[in-house]
Amino acid sequence: MRALRHPRLHGHLVHAQTRLAADLSGSPRWSSQHNRRGPVRLPTMHTLVADHPLIAHKLTALRDVHTETPVFRSLTDELVTLLAYEATRDVKVEQVTVHTPVASAEGVKLARPIPLVIPVLRAGIGMLDGMARLLPKADVGFVGLARDEETLVASTYATRLPADLTGRDTFVLDPMLATGGTLETVFGMLASRGAASMTAICLLAAPEGIARVHEAFPDDFPIPVKVVTAGLDERLNERGYIVPGLGDAGDRLFGEI
Ligand code: URA
Repeated sequence: MRALRHPRLHGHLVHAQTRLAADLSGSPRWSSQHNRRGPVRLPTMHTLVADHPLIAHKLTALRDVHTETPVFRSLTDELVTLLAYEATRDVKVEQVTVHTPVASAEGVKLARPIPLVIPVLRAGIGMLDGMARLLPKADVGFVGLARDEETLVASTYATRLPADLTGRDTFVLDPMLATGGTLETVFGMLASRGAASMTAICLLAAPEGIARVHEAFPDDFPIPVKVVTAGLDERLNERGYIVPGLGDAGDRLFGEI
């Protein structure tokens, strides 16, 4: 796992890792990674749990069962913009010179090829405006996955992605990282098309989902893989819902259909 630059995020990350280790301590695969001589190095991929009072405030309101769809949508929108700020910290830029009214100034602009944002249908659509606010020039691809409520297995029903993602930073929008099956599938599609990096922005994550994605894309995976979330919750329930979570994100954003 790469070092984090942001001290507050780092503080929360350690907390999240400790919880992950506790949640997963029954598994020999995890306990084998303990280091007898120093601090325990835990098996999370680069996972940022954004620790900011405004994010916590908005997330709390989002969780509330009494929060109705219009407010839920605008809170999601605001939260994604805040998360996107951290998620795009390593986005590729190139040097440029501009002329101010006074003198020339050195600066940067987004490098080409421009990033690709991929909302996962349907709930990820509710995150697109919040992301586009920070990355208005990004292209947008789409992937549709539906989860079988019995088996919890996600199957792909729509894919609209460039065939070649060579050199492109990619950002997947999916509000709930639950079992991790959807994100594993989408990251797999992006990696096989040559993406330069893959970052998922999620409102909430479960330890089980983080563990699954990390297993599929371990630390030695050839490109950077990152998850940015507003909260790491306790666990999944028997129906695959995040606990305490916020319920069905798609239903809360768009209604039960
Ligand atoms: N998808 C949701 O919308 N909510 C969960 O808790 C898990 C998956």
